[in-house]
Amino acid sequence: MENFASVVRKLFQATTAPDVLNFATGSPANASIPLEEIRELSRDILEQDASGYRALQYNDPQGLIDLREAVAEKLLPRRGISGAKPSQVMITQGGMETLTLSCHVFIDPGDVILIEEPSFTQAIETFKLFEANCVSVECDDNGMLMDDLAAKFDQYKPKMIYVIPSFQNPAGRTTSLERRKALAEFANARDVILLEDDPYVELRYHGEDLPSIKSFDKNGNVIFCNSFSKIFSPGMRLGYLFADEEIISHVYDAKTATNSHVAVYNQMLAAEYLKRGMFENRIGFIRDLYKHKADVAAASIVKYFPEGSHFVRPEGGLFFWVRLPEGCMDTTEILEHKDEFKVSFVAGAGFFVNGKGHDCMRLSFGNFSDEQIDAGMHRLGDYIKATRE
Ligand SMILES: Cc1ncc(COP(=O)(O)O)c(C=O)c1O
Repeated sequence: MENFASVVRKLFQATTAPDVLNFATGSPANASIPLEEIRELSRDILEQDASGYRALQYNDPQGLIDLREAVAEKLLPRRGISGAKPSQVMITQGGMETLTLSCHVFIDPGDVILIEEPSFTQAIETFKLFEANCVSVECDDNGMLMDDLAAKFDQYKPKMIYVIPSFQNPAGRTTSLERRKALAEFANARDVILLEDDPYVELRYHGEDLPSIKSFDKNGNVIFCNSFSKIFSPGMRLGYLFADEEIISHVYDAKTATNSHVAVYNQMLAAEYLKRGMFENRIGFIRDLYKHKADVAAASIVKYFPEGSHFVRPEGGLFFWVRLPEGCMDTTEILEHKDEFKVSFVAGAGFFVNGKGHDCMRLSFGNFSDEQIDAGMHRLGDYIKATRE
């Protein structure tokens, strides 16, 4: 039987052919990865016996205290969360593990999780692995529609609500300030867990930063999840979760039982990166880098895609979510021909749990040069136009 994961694999079809431009994977730009700083930090850590052995030994399942302190002092205040204690932070194996650990703690087979329409395919995959039923809530440009959320809540009695508030994957939308407050109030009033997954928040290139949903949480229903993949290195596999100590204690047990803890060496590198002010020095450069790439991608979609194609310019992040006009081929079918036009993308259907999205595609521009973005959109646009009825 074909399960959701194998369907998703087909939709991604992350290509191995070297001449195919892979706009499917949401990789950050190589230039955003602080290679020089990591070289320097690696030397410092390994030079001294004490720090070298510390890096190579077992450590606390909750994560290295230095990194938890750095998250509480350097990252969470940027999200409107002040006074966070390191005891409320759990270091995870990438952002993805914040989701699996939360499911270990809260989800039993058959439970319902309310997700945005559309939502992140891999999150849906994770939720399905735990045998949860995902039900999507309608959204507008400001995030989840509160009326639909309330109706679905009453109908399905969900265990969890999953929200990606900034430059949402895949739709690119940002949950407005009002909606953030309303979501926190809703989670508190209905006493339901809300997972706030915010890996792109630092990649804002237009508009004003907004406080997190978690910053409005009065009763501890919101779990704030984040990742170091887009601000440090995806290969290091680092993420974190911030929640009340009671929740952290359950997550701690799940983490211990699955893989003990995250690589200490990687945690030490990230902690020093934050503590030495390297992150603050670099984040402006990263934002400018993506602002430029997003401009190039937007211009080439407008130039090459069929008239009537629709996309909303995101205020940050790494993706464009494009809806093709009527008469175009289903994007899953277009993807099957990728070797002809040598561009890969994610077909829209994998981001929906209700059969929609066949006219949509997600295009990631993060790790390509201007020339590659222009050439890729040109080839893809021409192919789509040629197959249009
Ligand atoms: C919404 C969302 N959550 C979580 C993740 C996982 O991040 P990581 O690579 O750190 O596991 C991603 C990565 O693309 C994402 O888009």
